[in-house]
Parts: sequence; C-alpha cells; structure tokens
Amino acid sequence: MSDRTYLIKGADLLGTGRTDLLLEDGRIAAVGKLGDAAQAAMIEADGLVALPGLVDLHTHLREPGREDAETISSGSAAAAAGGFTAVLAMANTQPVTDTAEAAERILDLGRAAALVDVQPIGAVTKSLAGEELAELGLMARSRANVRVFSDDGRCVHDARIMRRALEYVKAFGGVISQHAQEPQLAGGSACCHEGELSGRLGLPGWPGVAEEVIVARDVMLARHTGSRVHVAHVSTAGSVEVVRWAKSQGIAVTAEVTPHHLLLTTDLLSGYDPVFKVNPPLRPQEDVDALRAALADGTIDAVATDHAPHARHDKEHAFAEAAFGMLGLEQCLQVVTTTMVQTGRMTWADVAAALSTRPARIAGLAGHGRPLAVDEPANLVLIDPSATGTIDADASQSLSRNNPWHGRTLQGRVHSTFLRGRATLLDGEVQK
Ligand code: DOR
Repeated sequence: MSDRTYLIKGADLLGTGRTDLLLEDGRIAAVGKLGDAAQAAMIEADGLVALPGLVDLHTHLREPGREDAETISSGSAAAAAGGFTAVLAMANTQPVTDTAEAAERILDLGRAAALVDVQPIGAVTKSLAGEELAELGLMARSRANVRVFSDDGRCVHDARIMRRALEYVKAFGGVISQHAQEPQLAGGSACCHEGELSGRLGLPGWPGVAEEVIVARDVMLARHTGSRVHVAHVSTAGSVEVVRWAKSQGIAVTAEVTPHHLLLTTDLLSGYDPVFKVNPPLRPQEDVDALRAALADGTIDAVATDHAPHARHDKEHAFAEAAFGMLGLEQCLQVVTTTMVQTGRMTWADVAAALSTRPARIAGLAGHGRPLAVDEPANLVLIDPSATGTIDADASQSLSRNNPWHGRTLQGRVHSTFLRGRATLLDGEVQK
C-alpha cells in the first residue's frame, strides 16, 4: 500500500464540477484549483467522479472458519477493488462472532490486512441459535465497539427475543439488522421465490410475505421499544410499503437493498444455475422496480452487498443442494451505476448518500461517509463512469468464484480507492 501525498487533478466532485484534491497525512489537505505539489504523486482524474469511500453494511468475510472461501485479507482486497473504505463483517463465521473476544479478533485481523476498515457485527443470539441473547453489552464495550448486531443467514424469529435485543442495544445506540424471514413460511427445503416459475421448475419456493410479516412485526417492536431496527436485504415491494409506512410514522427503521436485487430477477433460475441461488431469493421484475424506486426516493437508505463467497464444493451442486449466496463487493458500484445512474434515477450525490453517508451513519462509523472537504479523513473512491467492462469471475480478488455478474457488461470502472490518504487501489490495481 502506498503511503504518500496524492494530488488528484480535475476529479468531478460528486458530479457537481471539476476540482483538484490534495491528500496529505491521512486527510484532505486542500480542495480547489491547486498548483503542482512537488512531493505529491499526481493522479490525472479527467473524466473520473470522486465519491466518499463506500461503506458496506453487509459483508461475509468467512474468517474464522471458512478460509477456503474467503479470508479477511482477500475480502478486504475485494472491498478495496470495489471502492469500499469500510465493511461490516457479518457474524455467521465459525465460530460465530458472539463474544467480545471474537469481535476484537476480527477487528485486529482487519487492521493487519490494512486495506479497508473491518468493523465486526455481533450476533444477536448465542451461536445464532435464536434462543438466548449473545453478549451484546460486552461486545459493545469491547475494543471492537460493536454497534450493529445481526443473526444474518437466520431470522431472529422469536418476538420476545427480538424485543429484548432492541431494548438492550438502545442503551448504547446500537441497531439490530434483521434477516426478515418467517421460518414457518420460508422453512424446509425452500430455495427460490415462490411463484409460477418455481412451480414449473419443480423447486420449492418461499413467498414474499415470509419477509413482509417479519418487517411489519419488527417495525412495531421498534416503535414499542423506541429502538432502531435495520432491515437487511429488502427484496419485495411489500416490504418497501411497510418500511415507507413506518418511516411516515417516525419509527426508527432503516433498510438496505443488495446490488443483485436491483438487477437480477427470478427468471434467471430457469437454467438451474446455482450461482443465482441466494437468500432472500431473486424476485420478479415488479419487485425489482419497487426496490429501485424506493432506493431513489430514500425509503431504502442504503445499498449493501451481502457479499457471500462460497467454495466450489459448497456452491457447485444441483440447485436444491447448493449454498445460498453470491459475491458482491467488486461489482456493487458498477451495478448501481448501471441501474440507477445511467437510467437517471439517481445523481452521484444520491449514490454517495446511499453507499457511504447513510450506511456510515447507520453503523455509527464516525470517520466514514464524510464530505470530501478540507480536514476530513481522506477516504474516497474515484470511478470512471464512462468505461464499460465485461465481468470476468477469474479476475476477482475474492477466493471464491460464485460471481453472478460473470460475462455481463456493466457500466463504470472503479479506478482508485484511498483509505485515510493511502491508496488501496490505484488505476484498478489493489495496493497490498
Ligand atoms: O444468500 C445468503 N448467503 N444469504 C444470507 O443471508 C447468508 C449468506 C451466507 O452467509 O452465505
């Protein structure tokens, strides 16, 4: 990783106009029309848009336990390649991140990899078993300063436990990120969206309402407790309606959508390719349209990747047996550029809000999601929005290859990423 002074010449600042930026000692030292700085490395940013470094509320890094699929180091490299300067590492590792020590270990491994700030998410319940609260207070008071808690991969389905968790985290400004899925409606061998196609393919499906009933329950629990709930990977138009209503009532709910739910639809399952198997499942176009509209109008606060690497021996099976999940870190910004910016639904300032400012605020990360202004931490990404590229799964930084974007042409190229003034990606090359 290069640790030096950078002069970025002529970047388009959040799409509002061209300017130069001087990065020095980890901060943005100057913004405006700047003369050459002798000791600075110059980056010609003609045609590049500068955004605050991206923050991912939902990343599976797999370490400890499944280092064959991803490590904190390889996942950090994928994050830097995607323009991220902070990622929240999900708790469903082996062992589960349900203690202060486990959370601190992830923090330390992230610092050692030093490509992105890795902020651990703590489990809501011990071993993700859904039966007993994990050490929420100890994790919050630990060096890892945990503020986001989630049993992701599983729903906190017991309403009494969800209520207690919300009450508990309120004391220290924490938030529960819920994988909304009613197990009685979505359990068993279900592996895709329930609809006409699942019937035709002979795959057991689960309906959108399995998500929606939990979102509805949880916003009422958030209202009752006065605490914050965050809905992970919202995937249906019905969930959007509930979140929109809850926000109109002043309930403290936030929500995220994944890149794959913004672009891919359930029709892709007709080839039974397990790369498209994900939880929650890909949905019909009507849901995709509702998710795009909700992201554009701010009902959905953030885009989060749900980057879910899987080793070949877990993923490359008959559809019904394959693991759930797909990669997301490296192509997230391109998918958002393709679906939201190119189509005129969002400006670059909107993208900065949805991929940096709001996720940083939801997670309580003070040094991220800041404006690109003098004296702010130099966390930023440069993207070339006019470039197009065909995605090659083998070019990934991830140790896994379950990339749903393989072979697709997406708009935009992540050019460079800076973490506190250090280049972690320079002209497309990760700086390890
Ligand atoms: O598809 C998914 N994969 N959804 C989840 O919620 C968990 C994730 C994983 O850990 O693989």
